[in-house]
Amino acid sequence: MSRTIIVSNRLPVKVVKNDKDELEYRPSEGGLATGLSSVYKQGDNLWVGWPGRYFNRPEKQKEARKALESQNMRPVFLSKEEIKLYYEGFSNETLWPTFHYFNQNALYKKSYWEAYEEVNQKFCDEILKELNPGDKIWVHDYQLMLVPKMIRDKNPDVSVGFFLHIPFPSFEVFRLLPWRRELLDGVLGSDLIGFHTYDDMRHFLSAVSRICYISNQQGHILKDRRTVVTDSFPIGIDYDKYASQAAHPQTLRREVKYRTSLGNQKLMLSIDRLDYSKGIPARLEIFDIFLSKYPEYLGKVSLLMVVVPSRDEVEKYKDLKEEVDLLVGRINGKYGTVNWTPIHYFYRSFPLEDLSAFYRMADVAMVTPMRDGMNLVCKEYVASKLDQQGVLILSEMAGASKELSDALIVNPNDKHEVVGAIYKALNMPEDEQQRHMEIMQKTLKKYNIHHWVNLFLTRLEDVARKRSEQSTKVLDDEAEGEIIEDFNTAKKRLLFLDYDGTLVPFDSDPQAVAPGDELLGILEKLAANDQNHVVIISGRDKTTLGKWLGHLDVDFIAEHGVWLKDRKGD
Ligand code: UDP
Ligand code: G6P
Repeated sequence: MSRTIIVSNRLPVKVVKNDKDELEYRPSEGGLATGLSSVYKQGDNLWVGWPGRYFNRPEKQKEARKALESQNMRPVFLSKEEIKLYYEGFSNETLWPTFHYFNQNALYKKSYWEAYEEVNQKFCDEILKELNPGDKIWVHDYQLMLVPKMIRDKNPDVSVGFFLHIPFPSFEVFRLLPWRRELLDGVLGSDLIGFHTYDDMRHFLSAVSRICYISNQQGHILKDRRTVVTDSFPIGIDYDKYASQAAHPQTLRREVKYRTSLGNQKLMLSIDRLDYSKGIPARLEIFDIFLSKYPEYLGKVSLLMVVVPSRDEVEKYKDLKEEVDLLVGRINGKYGTVNWTPIHYFYRSFPLEDLSAFYRMADVAMVTPMRDGMNLVCKEYVASKLDQQGVLILSEMAGASKELSDALIVNPNDKHEVVGAIYKALNMPEDEQQRHMEIMQKTLKKYNIHHWVNLFLTRLEDVARKRSEQSTKVLDDEAEGEIIEDFNTAKKRLLFLDYDGTLVPFDSDPQAVAPGDELLGILEKLAANDQNHVVIISGRDKTTLGKWLGHLDVDFIAEHGVWLKDRKGD
């Protein structure tokens, strides 16, 4: 039976060690796991990925493998060196900053690149061990951009989809990467490539055109005689999960508890992984400006700021942690009183039950990344607002801003604009809040995570079906006999012959495909027959075709139909 194999750097479950040296299995943060759980848990489907930690004891590794495999997960274990060079290094010190337009933070190290290639190959080998004819493979994100080509090289007919969860930068930024061509070639091994937004897709197509010299037609790229389809598929959230969690009595109890300790103030909320792309220091500066510009809000509004530890071995993330700690301390020191703390800062991650209570409580959510592929937090906030009261301030640099145009959309670099948005949000009439929430909720409910998964997988099947329909079929004896019969009995014959891939094998090296003596002999013979009219069709330029075939008594259609030449030489 054909299966779907999901591949991502992180498995949907991470393995952690508790105080008693026992392994525990916790859900990884993010929406992907929920969305794809309906897929990988079914039948023989599988999720291949890294379990999120280094194992120094083989018996613990074995134990983890057994537990994960019993839940349809195939772990790819990484050595300390691989974690350092492939995960922290190339993935998060080279690709992440470049793709988020922080190229000043990017490191270009050959050792990182080599480890990236090796680990991508390791993932590919793990997939190949499992792969059966008819299986679909869905590769996720920037850590595994080489995997589609690696799989295709071994299995030309396999169906591979790739989804990029982070932005794809404009050509001028992408071109800075020394390995830009290899990365594009890697992804182009897919049948279908998905992005969150149309802009990301446009940037990708422009990079393919300018780096690989391959153009596209409405997002369809012809690569090595295969069509690669690109499209935008904005990811959704599990709407019902967030809405029902917000209605749960346990969430209400938590909300009452937190409200009681915070006092009767307006509450602003911000939740992110610790990442420079999220604009955390800028948000803190904005809050500082707001409090100094509108002193009437001192003691009346607080910011609940959750920062989830992330990639803490990477230098830039360590620096950011210090910067955020300092800023929070400075603002609390500057404005705080015995009865009021301006910023409630938590550097840790919370379970859904707490997040849901935070979402319910917040009068305003501030989601102001400098750059974000999508951003799920803002969608979760909207889905949790059962009473439709609350205002979302959303950066136009987040993919989500394309769908949530009813939020207060801001440019996070324009601090005074954001300060104005905070003031507006805190003063927005209830009916206006409700109107905006209702529209956003309707969108998120319809385009939820299940819709996203179905849309991508259906499209992948569609692309694979078309590829197989359009693939060259070898003629059987009967069909061959019919063609020969028709040829022999025809009084006049118009023969259209394609050049590359038909008269000569397809090859990107122009010298390798000049016609040989045997081919020239066959064409001469065909053209010499008065009953035949031979036309050669090619995308090649007229000068090359003229040089190779100009002496023959044949017509040309060159440069994809731009030039026609008949036998008389016109
Ligand atoms: N999240 C969580 N616990 C926390 C904070 C966040 O589980 O304490 C989840 C949050 O609910 C969301 C995800 O982490 O689903 C963050 O996704 P987002 O797209 O906003 O940002 P990313 O971290 O993927 O860049
Ligand atoms: C973003 C990326 C994911 C990544 C997640 C957490 O959402 O798109 O691929 O898994 O951040 O980052 P981490 O480095 O902890 O896996």
